[in-house]
Amino acid sequence: MGRKAIITAVGHYVPPNVLTNKDLEKMVDTSDEWITTRTGIKERHILDKDKGTSYMGARAAEMALQERGISPEEVDMIMVATVTPDMMFPNTACLIQEAIGAKNAWGVDLNGACTGFVYALATAAQFVETGRYQKVLVIGADKMSSIVDYQDRNNCVLFGDAGAAVLLEPGEDEEYGVLDFILKSDGSGGKYLYMPAGGSLHPASHETVEKRMHYIRQEGRTVFKFAVTGMAEVTEAILKKNNLTGKDIKYFVPHQANLRIIDATGKRLGLEPEQVLVNIDRYGNTTAATIPLGISELYHDGKLQKGDLILMAAFGAGFTWGSLLLRWAI
Ligand code: ACO
Repeated sequence: MGRKAIITAVGHYVPPNVLTNKDLEKMVDTSDEWITTRTGIKERHILDKDKGTSYMGARAAEMALQERGISPEEVDMIMVATVTPDMMFPNTACLIQEAIGAKNAWGVDLNGACTGFVYALATAAQFVETGRYQKVLVIGADKMSSIVDYQDRNNCVLFGDAGAAVLLEPGEDEEYGVLDFILKSDGSGGKYLYMPAGGSLHPASHETVEKRMHYIRQEGRTVFKFAVTGMAEVTEAILKKNNLTGKDIKYFVPHQANLRIIDATGKRLGLEPEQVLVNIDRYGNTTAATIPLGISELYHDGKLQKGDLILMAAFGAGFTWGSLLLRWAI
């Protein structure tokens, strides 16, 4: 045991524009009843067309820094988990650095799809634990509306836009902060959830646009099965490894892809409903933003106390999945 990275501030940004299930009924052959019973989603928020993911990340980061009462110039590093960067390059972290005036930071993006924030938090914590950096912003942000096909009822009902940020700093007490994590990938799952075009394999062309290759494709039922198994595997393993049971956890903050996946994992861990964070009804799946958004809301609703044990878990494209155990320090 040694120095730990603690979360000292947290912020989020959700765009004001709301897209309800009723709105979607007018766009594709679906119903509020189908979406609610199959996914738990009632509405999601959509960012303006003229703004990118960096806009939401920057607003979330500013909220965290303001609450901490520090200047952006004090930030050493910015790590952004996203699958919807504003553009291929420069990276979103540089755009956010410029937007918030974090002149002395360097920044990098990380693509772990829905597991992106868990990957990024675990990675960024290493820089703090080693003593290399003192103030690191970890941001999860995605403008999913930019890669969702609003003619495809299988996918368009699932996703929304949001950004959220945490500030990591070294803690004085090794019992607090990022305590442990388990991170996994299985590239053989790539074919079940992907966006075919826009990268070096299929750069944008008339053909890629005509074939609607710049949108998410997924085999929902297959992803669902892997997600339920994967979430259970890494959450049970991290509890066992740390000699804990579900009763020791104050909040389970899972990735919000489908209420049925969340419920299945919560039951498996023997958790009471009030221990499980659910906000998918209001935001849908915001990919890398779901977990930090959930934490920010818990904190700002006054539901988190110093010493609370938080368990995070996510599953997403790749396949990628992971869990992270954290003791709240502020
Ligand atoms: N409205 C009405 N009917 C629909 C809709 C819709 N919006 N979408 C699909 N259906 C239909 C299908 O066409 C199908 O009809 P058929 O039986 O006539 O073919 C029927 O509903 C059932 O479809 P399923 O795919 O079996 O439905 P399922 O209960 O599995 O729910 C869902 C689909 C919600 C996508 C679910 O499988 C799921 O949540 N999967 C996991 C998604 C996930 O976790 N993704 C990972 C994160 S995303 C990331 O990493 C970027």
